Amino acid sequence: MSGDKGDGERVLRLVTSNEGKAMEYAAALAGISWKVERVAGPYEEIQADTLEEVAGASARQLFAEGSVPPPFVLEDAGLFIDALEGFPGVYSAYVFQTIGHQGILRLMEGIRDRDASFESRIALCVPGGDVELLSGSCSGTIPQAMRGSGGFGFDPVFIPEGDYRTFAEMSIEEKEERSHRGRAMAALRERLARL
Ligand code: IMP
Repeated sequence: MSGDKGDGERVLRLVTSNEGKAMEYAAALAGISWKVERVAGPYEEIQADTLEEVAGASARQLFAEGSVPPPFVLEDAGLFIDALEGFPGVYSAYVFQTIGHQGILRLMEGIRDRDASFESRIALCVPGGDVELLSGSCSGTIPQAMRGSGGFGFDPVFIPEGDYRTFAEMSIEEKEERSHRGRAMAALRERLARL
């Protein structure tokens, strides 16, 4: 399986049930010579201590099941808050669904150290089944209150370094220029050019 549809156009499958992520990939990969096809069905996310283990093991499992032909990508991402020892980290999706932005802001009440980072790990499963990891990170701070209505997830409670706006106050292109995912997707574009 080469990812070639037979008409010379190569197909990369993007496995995600997250609408916000899918939109960011569509924007960032629009100009490349690959056709990006979304596979929206949820995959079973492996529980592990690090994003790379989650992304890598999930991709290997999906390849073993044979339901999604490679090349395909899936991504695990998370928000790591310094004063909370890296929480929510690998538990970001669950924490977002349960306590949400307000829960994070409450946990940060009275804490002066607002430093945090967003991390992204993209697992690329290449033809043959090998899984390669591409990384991106973005340092920043947690504001005192949520701001903005764009983006998804914790975007309203994260200000990237060097800016005063939250991700949720930026356009998708502005977020891509600064974000963990934008950086990981840049590495992915570079890798795809050599595949
Ligand atoms: P996952 O990679 O879909 O498991 O992402 C985990 C969780 O981290 C998501 O549900 C979001 O709450 C949060 N997250 C990951 N990336 C971003 C981002 O770019 N902006 C805001 N929240 C994010």
